[in-house]
Amino acid sequence: MAVIAGNWKMHMAPEEARAFFSAYEIDEIIADNEVLIFPPTISLVAAYKCEDRDPRVQLGIQNVHWEDCGAFTGEISAEMAASAGASYALVGHSERRQLFGETDEQVALKVAAALRQDLIPVICVGETLEEREAGRVSEVILRQLDFALASIPDPETRFLIAYEPVWAIGTGKTATPMDAAGAHGTLRNRLEQAIGMTAAARTEILYGGSVQPRNAAELLAAQDVDGVLVGGASVNPQSFGDITRAAG
Ligand code: 13P
Repeated sequence: MAVIAGNWKMHMAPEEARAFFSAYEIDEIIADNEVLIFPPTISLVAAYKCEDRDPRVQLGIQNVHWEDCGAFTGEISAEMAASAGASYALVGHSERRQLFGETDEQVALKVAAALRQDLIPVICVGETLEEREAGRVSEVILRQLDFALASIPDPETRFLIAYEPVWAIGTGKTATPMDAAGAHGTLRNRLEQAIGMTAAARTEILYGGSVQPRNAAELLAAQDVDGVLVGGASVNPQSFGDITRAAG
């Protein structure tokens, strides 16, 4: 079983979201796999209500605020996301961290906010090229993970991790299956220490960063890779369908 997730980022207005679901055939979804789509917030309701969307394709929000409500112009709460049809929440995507200055502390607060509304957090971690070249991959991703784990109340709480090396996002440079397996192994070991062997084994760790139909199968076959988080290739129903099939 694998998790195939698509992060549409700031693409796909409501009408395009509807068109996606009418072209993304349910036959392409292999029985045991889980398929998630993270539309931009403005398209979440359209995606949720779209009759062409098979209900097995679940939805998530790309970001939430850490407060439940209040005077935070332009922000969206986890409660609103849940009531608009989200079951998952991306937290700490590198674009949030890098472009919008999101800190480890804020990521931890957002994980807690998502869980208060029964949204399943997908916690994103990943190193920059500079950090990789300085040999700091484990240090960086474990620091990011530890902050987020502080908001996980007990081993029964479901959450996912997405390892997305920043240098691989939108660049066409994919981590090798060995790079991915190495980072995922590091994350899994930390999970074992933090929440125990059983919970760590069932926590899905997704790889993200230039996943394409041509490389999805080899990445999904790598040790400790339980799924993929796809950006650019997820807005095209044919490519996302091919990636979904690669999980079979
Ligand atoms: P790309 O697949 O476009 O590299 O984006 C990956 C990503 O950031 C998914 O969250």
